[in-house]
Amino acid sequence: MKKFEILLLEQASEISSEKVLNPEGFTAWTSPSNIAIVKYWGKRPGQIPANASLSLTLSKARTETSVTYTYDKSIKEPQLTFKFEGKTQDQFEKRIKKYLLEIRELLPWLNHTKLSIDSSNNFPHSSGIASSASAMSALALTLCDIEERMYGRKTAKDFMKKASFLARLGSGSASRSVYGNMAEWGMTSCRRESSDEFAIPVTGIHEDLLMLRDSILIIEAGKKKVSSSFGHDLMKSNPYAKLRFEAAEENMQRLCSVITGGDTGHFIDIMENEALSLHAMMMTSTPGFLLMKPNSLKAIEMIREYRRESGSQLGFTLDAGANVHVIYTKKSESKVKKFIESELKPLCENGLVIHDEMGGGPERMSEV
Ligand code: PMV
Repeated sequence: MKKFEILLLEQASEISSEKVLNPEGFTAWTSPSNIAIVKYWGKRPGQIPANASLSLTLSKARTETSVTYTYDKSIKEPQLTFKFEGKTQDQFEKRIKKYLLEIRELLPWLNHTKLSIDSSNNFPHSSGIASSASAMSALALTLCDIEERMYGRKTAKDFMKKASFLARLGSGSASRSVYGNMAEWGMTSCRRESSDEFAIPVTGIHEDLLMLRDSILIIEAGKKKVSSSFGHDLMKSNPYAKLRFEAAEENMQRLCSVITGGDTGHFIDIMENEALSLHAMMMTSTPGFLLMKPNSLKAIEMIREYRRESGSQLGFTLDAGANVHVIYTKKSESKVKKFIESELKPLCENGLVIHDEMGGGPERMSEV
């Protein structure tokens, strides 16, 4: 068992015997999605990443989750009603129930609590924006908040660390959504405080890499063709997996110095290499997946050509799908946006482009 988990279990056993200060209450958090620059693809048991990853926290694409809770000692396991965008959603409810059962050893009060959860995304479900990162981080934050309301403890730093830990158990990439700007998750030799158990905020970001823009080209709306858990699993038998994990660590190390030094060109090189490596892993898995569409490739070629010709600081990254994230600096914004609107928009399904940017992280919506 890992170090922080042991500490959380110790805290949990102390908490079990304490008096509940506020047996009823309400909390609400909004938490953003994130886009990985160094990708997490492949994991070990216990939701431990095969390599460290680093992401950019988005600003606008968010999940808002509110929870009304009632503590009742006579209940013996977590009770839940769940609504997504105002409607009951059996599939999500089952997933959350399973998650609550998995984490109840860490949050023993869950066994005696009724939760009524309302969750909604401010981006279309079909947009291909990773909703598990924003949804699971928002949920983890509300759970930490309820615990604080019940038992009144923890420093702000531990609060976020625990939220990131719990978010990770729901969805690995969700661990990173707990922090604004950029976050890093997984052991890497370039950051002493790094951990496989929780994400940490990336500090010392050069001003040229702050406020990065992310315009998402919706090449193909609709659900992802490969679920992440299936994709992570395929890495177990991918013949290139070992090399990939080593290359990701090298990219992490290069990125660490680039982030503080502010070499935007180098940042873009690493980012694009990571995106193509992720897709190379999908193509070389068994079964293999080709998730990019002809228009994804067209967009990538046009982005590179425009960069060569204009000298603007922009590049692309990809998630596990066909959509293309155009990442660019604040300085290049007005020129790049014009290029996106005139040249790239026609490649998108129904001309849909979602303009987002680096953001400050989750926010509490309810009163303390
Ligand atoms: O958190 P998961 O299990 O949905 O995996 C995320 C995988 C990628 O989005 C492809 C990469 C990443 O690091 O976010």
